[in-house]
Amino acid sequence: MNVTLDVVVLVSGTGTLLQSLIDATEAGEVNARVVAVVSDQEAAPALMRARRHGIEAIAHPYRRGTDRAGWDAQLTDIVAAFEPDLVASAGFMKLLGEAFLARFGGRTINTHPSLLPSFPGMRAAHDALAAGVKVTGATVFLVDEGVDTGRILVQAAVEVLDGDDAEVLHERIKIAERELLVRAVRDWRPGEA
Ligand code: GRF
Repeated sequence: MNVTLDVVVLVSGTGTLLQSLIDATEAGEVNARVVAVVSDQEAAPALMRARRHGIEAIAHPYRRGTDRAGWDAQLTDIVAAFEPDLVASAGFMKLLGEAFLARFGGRTINTHPSLLPSFPGMRAAHDALAAGVKVTGATVFLVDEGVDTGRILVQAAVEVLDGDDAEVLHERIKIAERELLVRAVRDWRPGEA
């Protein structure tokens, strides 16, 4: 009987990736439960999604120009209070710092809307279009101290279609990302690092 994974999810935006994980855990498709959702954005719709499912949702906003390392240490403590087996960054738009990685490195995964190492950073769909690739995709990887550089766990290819703009392409990629995130949690084995 494998133990149910306790997962904390980090979000910044609409939370459709979070929603796919919540739905999969509630449907019994993944032996995991989302024990908390934490966002750097007070108004992230993803927080409302969590609350609608009775999941604790915490905003931990970062005020530009304030002590970033202190903010990261506080984020670490907030997450640690839930004693997660796994942390999933699902559309979380802040780089996790030293304190966080010291505590949760090796068990923090992130989704990215490209086939890493191609197109890292904040404009993956836009950059794929600009490069003229015919295939891009999604990646789930282990977070390390770099930007989108951790060990790749799972990937899925997504076709670029004529007439795509960055938004249309990104939404198509997100469909793949949602499935990929669920698969990565389902297949997670402690000590993956
Ligand atoms: C995803 O494509 C994620 O990879 C990127 O932002 C998007 C988040 O989407 N960082 P959502 O907030 O889960 O809808």
